[in-house]
Amino acid sequence: MKRPPLIASVSRVILPSPPSVRDLAADPITLPVPPAVHGGPTLDHCLRNRRSSRSFLPSPLTLAETSQLLWAAQGCTGLGGLRTAPSAGAIYPVRAYLLATAVDGLTPGFYSYDADAGSLLLLRKGDRRKSLARAAAGQSCVEECAFALLLTGWYKRAGREFGDAAPRLAAMECGHIGQNFCLQATAMGLGAIGLGRLDPEAVRLLLRVPDDEEPLYLLLAGRI
Ligand SMILES: Cc1cc2nc3c(=O)[nH]c(=O)nc-3n(C[C@H](O)[C@H](O)[C@H](O)COP(=O)(O)O)c2cc1C
Repeated sequence: MKRPPLIASVSRVILPSPPSVRDLAADPITLPVPPAVHGGPTLDHCLRNRRSSRSFLPSPLTLAETSQLLWAAQGCTGLGGLRTAPSAGAIYPVRAYLLATAVDGLTPGFYSYDADAGSLLLLRKGDRRKSLARAAAGQSCVEECAFALLLTGWYKRAGREFGDAAPRLAAMECGHIGQNFCLQATAMGLGAIGLGRLDPEAVRLLLRVPDDEEPLYLLLAGRI
């Protein structure tokens, strides 16, 4: 079968994100819009200084810092929902969830992130870092981070256009998202790391990720 080109098509039909399973009837939290930064560390500085952090201080991140990191990862920057990170066909088959534990102004818990609206929706309360660390090969940095951003592949969305290639394309997209996230953290003097060592099924069970999404990548952030 001939594949469509990996570029945005004006006539593309994209499945809307399904609602996530949640225990609460909380209202979405609209995140502060990150201001355009003029000056500050250069891209060259960030590229030279980005390093994976595996140890974090216990002090919390502010909501503005958290919003900035989420925006760098998946923020909307263009007409039609185009984002900071590229996506094959502009389909955006990667969904993002936030396990926030030390963010000022956020109840510790598991949230879904709506990139189009720039908002978080609390799905369930609780600090699940210890269990998440177990599902990530016991990596202690998971227990120390201020928050973990879980990226999942929702292949159904990309499968219509790209068939069997959808998982591969979603994994590539995670790489773009992760690099945006880590460079933004470097620019802000924060620590970050991407973790691929995780048991997708254990993460799914723990965080009740829907059956048709695959947990792919964990991005951690915190003070260093
Ligand atoms: C896809 C991917 C998965 C990774 N998974 C882990 C991980 O599970 N645990 C970990 O400690 N580091 C992980 N890393 C970080 C690498 O170990 C790290 O990038 C490498 O050692 C180079 O160091 P640097 O990032 O400081 O330049 C991962 C990196 C990538 C790109």
